[in-house]
Amino acid sequence: MFHVKISGLGSYLPERCIHNNELAETLETSDEWITSHTGISYRRIAAPDESPSSMAIEAAKIALADAGVAPEELSMILLSTSTPDYAPIPSTSCLVQEAIHAENSVAIDITAACSGFVFNLELARGYMQFHDRPILLVATEMMSRVIDWSDHKTCVLFGDAAAAAVLTRTEGEGRIIDSYIRADGTGKNFLKIEGGCRKPDSRNAHNPLTLYMEGRAVFTFAIRIIPDIVNILLTRNGLTLDDIDWLVSHQANYRIIRSAAARLKVPESRFFMNLQNVANTASATVPLALHEMQQKGLLKKGMKIITLGFGAGLTYGGNLIQW
Ligand code: ACO
Repeated sequence: MFHVKISGLGSYLPERCIHNNELAETLETSDEWITSHTGISYRRIAAPDESPSSMAIEAAKIALADAGVAPEELSMILLSTSTPDYAPIPSTSCLVQEAIHAENSVAIDITAACSGFVFNLELARGYMQFHDRPILLVATEMMSRVIDWSDHKTCVLFGDAAAAAVLTRTEGEGRIIDSYIRADGTGKNFLKIEGGCRKPDSRNAHNPLTLYMEGRAVFTFAIRIIPDIVNILLTRNGLTLDDIDWLVSHQANYRIIRSAAARLKVPESRFFMNLQNVANTASATVPLALHEMQQKGLLKKGMKIITLGFGAGLTYGGNLIQW
């Protein structure tokens, strides 16, 4: 079996930063409510001339430079998004492939909501058993274009961002050790973006993409599966939580992470958190967190980390990584 590691990371955040107080000027909400219920203070919102692909391209360039990999070396671009440039073709990954001149790569979009990056790490690791060239993973999410800005139950939760990782084969110790990825379609109604082709009149109807969420159901699901994912990865690799340096979870909500930490009986400080500054950026949260951790010097060679994703579908999973 060939081992695979993350060789480079990159991210992109739009410039415009919105504090809770700014939302409270037009919505029935407050900084106190949002902070106490979610842990979020700020979110970034894309400019009108930006797009999911433009953010992805910026993140991809940084990750490629960090890895020292040229675009033409890539065998694949695997992109996760719930907010593609087009709905749904051409794929956003094809737009990235053209822009960065990755002419020797295939380009594929994956729909797995907030678990997209975690899923793609495992899909890429499998692909690399047969193809030795590097793979670019990109997660790009422009949630500001699918949320109803008059719905205080959802619009305060999300932000825009893209993040990317370059994967290469390795013979060293640093590698993706294991992954556990799953879906549970029985929860399909908890979280959805309406506006697809399900309805017969979808072509002519006023059919805007709009996000709907049953917040309590998502909360209950998340705090149940986070400990399950962690325990499965630990057990089948003969590890305990003491062996894990960082838990890098999908950043949906501080209260989800706090409850999961309590159930796992680990200090909250073992979970990296940056949602207070960037909010929930769907599948971009995990690579965005990893890039920020790398920039802050928090990821050291030999450390073991577990990434955790969960989201619409329902989808969920995690990766056990030795850095
Ligand atoms: N500001 C002020 N009041 C609000 C706000 C807000 N932003 N949002 C909801 N409320 C009010 C509601 O109107 C309601 O008032 P009412 O009782 O008078 O009708 C009250 O708060 C309770 O509403 P709930 O929706 O039941 O609020 P809840 O306590 O469940 O908190 C939250 C909502 C924070 C979303 C919670 O359900 C949660 O943490 N869910 C987890 C899901 C999540 O974080 N999803 C993110 C995306 S999903 C993902 O990434 C996988």
